[in-house]
Amino acid sequence: MTLALEIKNLVKTFGGLTATDNLNFDIKEGRSVGLIGPNGAGKTTVFSQIMGELQQTSGQISLFGTDLGTLPTSKRIRLGVSRTYQIPRPFLELSVVENIRVGLMPNSIWSMIIKGPDHTKEEKLALEVGLAETDFEKPASELSMGDLRKLELARTIATGAKVLLLDEVFAGLTTGEIAQISSLIQDLRAKGFTLLIVSHDLPALEPLIDHVIAIERGRIIATGNFKDVVNDESVRASYLGQAT
Ligand SMILES: Nc1ncnc2c1ncn2[C@@H]1O[C@H](COP(=O)(O)OP(=O)(O)O)[C@@H](O)[C@H]1O
Ligand SMILES: [Mg+2]
Repeated sequence: MTLALEIKNLVKTFGGLTATDNLNFDIKEGRSVGLIGPNGAGKTTVFSQIMGELQQTSGQISLFGTDLGTLPTSKRIRLGVSRTYQIPRPFLELSVVENIRVGLMPNSIWSMIIKGPDHTKEEKLALEVGLAETDFEKPASELSMGDLRKLELARTIATGAKVLLLDEVFAGLTTGEIAQISSLIQDLRAKGFTLLIVSHDLPALEPLIDHVIAIERGRIIATGNFKDVVNDESVRASYLGQAT
């Protein structure tokens, strides 16, 4: 089976702090993996290094067998990896459709020009993630947190990437919105996307993943099926005292 993502001996230091401490893991194509750990464990820093937003101190990240080295983010997206942000980052003054169009651009300039007979590609994507037709022209600044997360997903999917890194997808959502985003993620799994999902909401995460990796201070402390990992003593200890 092809490895979508391979992380080898990854280290990232910020001055005296080691945020990623010799991390090793890989994800087979089409798998969905959870990445959990207390605040400050280094989850987002892993995403930033995979995307080339932060350059690793040492170690290697490969995507479908290609060493990403020091490639810029735009090239990594073209090679097939994209991410969402813990705090959604739309262009607030742009409309929903325009925001999705920005996501389409790294893939191909033609995607901006070629439009289907009924809906543009952007509109189709907006509908696919559960946004309404009445949202198309709305500025992103007017969206609820649930709709902002849907827009984040649409922008990420729009890049054409098949490996999606989803950071804290359920943060700030109502129970109803969590259910909607969960079902969207299930659709992505069914379509064969490879997913790496960070979530503090462990009950919401469980049905979405094949296995889970728990990290603390940049190191893997447990990996395997969800129940074994969350019941692992070191994982329980690392979450102690933290509102999750
Ligand atoms: N750009 C940065 N500069 C300095 N320290 C950082 C930077 N980004 C993250 N860190 C530190 O790295 C550690 C891991 O952070 P982060 O990856 O955001 O954790 P998580 O996403 O698991 O909550 C934290 O101690 C954080 O303060
Ligand atoms: Mg984070």
